[in-house]
Amino acid sequence: MRTRQLGHTGAEVSQLCLGTMYFGTRVDPEMSRRVLDAYVEAGGTFLDTANGYAHWIEGWKGGESETLLGKWMRERGNRAQLFLATKVGFDYPGVERGLRARVIEEECEKSLRRLGVDYIDLYYAHVDDRNTLLEETLEAFDRLVKAGKVRFIGASNYLAWRLEQARCISQMNNWASFCCIQQRYTYLPLQPGQSTAPQVMVNDDLLDYCRSTGMTLLAYSVLLGGAYTREDRPLPREFSGPGDEVRLSTLRAIAEETGGTVNQVVMAWMMQLSPSILPIIAASNEEQLRDNLGALDIRLSDEQMERLNSARFA
Ligand SMILES: NC(=O)c1ccc[n+]([C@@H]2O[C@H](COP(=O)([O-])OP(=O)(O)OC[C@H]3O[C@@H](n4cnc5c(N)ncnc54)[C@H](OP(=O)(O)O)[C@@H]3O)[C@@H](O)[C@H]2O)c1
Repeated sequence: MRTRQLGHTGAEVSQLCLGTMYFGTRVDPEMSRRVLDAYVEAGGTFLDTANGYAHWIEGWKGGESETLLGKWMRERGNRAQLFLATKVGFDYPGVERGLRARVIEEECEKSLRRLGVDYIDLYYAHVDDRNTLLEETLEAFDRLVKAGKVRFIGASNYLAWRLEQARCISQMNNWASFCCIQQRYTYLPLQPGQSTAPQVMVNDDLLDYCRSTGMTLLAYSVLLGGAYTREDRPLPREFSGPGDEVRLSTLRAIAEETGGTVNQVVMAWMMQLSPSILPIIAASNEEQLRDNLGALDIRLSDEQMERLNSARFA
């Protein structure tokens, strides 16, 4: 699998990151292992999880995804070959929401324990916290970096102006700074007046910010939970409305021209917009994983990119 630079860190990461949100809960341990093995076999090394995954699934309380990854890495003895990303900031049973220094430090220890590792490659602030000074949050992250528990830090669900504030504060204090932003992004735009809060969508402002600063953009919920192709999965209402049919039919036409699937075209479009946009793929079985990895084989022509981009205005 091709790799891409992660911001200005000098580290190279797989062009498709594997999201593991439901591993160990909705996706049973055996299937989770099979998908992880297949991703690694395809050359992937970049795994995404979070402290609280997936506490909202009935019967679970959070930490299951990290625990499953920990067991799988121990069985395979492959920790050193992987680039592990996890997150802190959302609440889950027993843990408050926010980015106070104490929460960051305690949650980092728990994540290290569950994952069974002595360092995390990429540690994200999962969601902005307007009630805590950025100084407190960034200093806490910096302490983890200086202690060798975390290699790089990233942000998720932040607006561009807050990222710029954070960058200035880190720079002034000589602290570690966010190298990437993980945001919600897909081919269908958010309908006017709709919001996915607390999840933050990519907008033109953020795209320009990433282009200008060299920050990597990790895109999540790229496939809208499978809604582009599945009868059993209606489009989320935030994305469904005037104009979506024009965009969906353009996707379908280009999928046919390329011989790829609609999902693959969505991901290929995103990757071709900029080499610093990396989709996070998720799969609940090997078939979905194969479909998603197939995006790496799709090459859209300039004319196809133009049609995909302008369909939004039709
Ligand atoms: N930073 C954040 O706030 C945040 C938020 C959400 C997610 N994430 C990260 O992003 C990752 C992906 O998020 P997501 O699950 O929302 O992504 P998504 O791409 O929108 O949806 C993935 C789901 O779509 C279905 N699917 C996947 N591939 C498919 C295919 N080829 N054909 C048909 N259906 C397919 C599967 O659902 P079924 O299981 O129903 O089959 C799968 O669980 C997560 O694992 C997590 O690491 C981060």
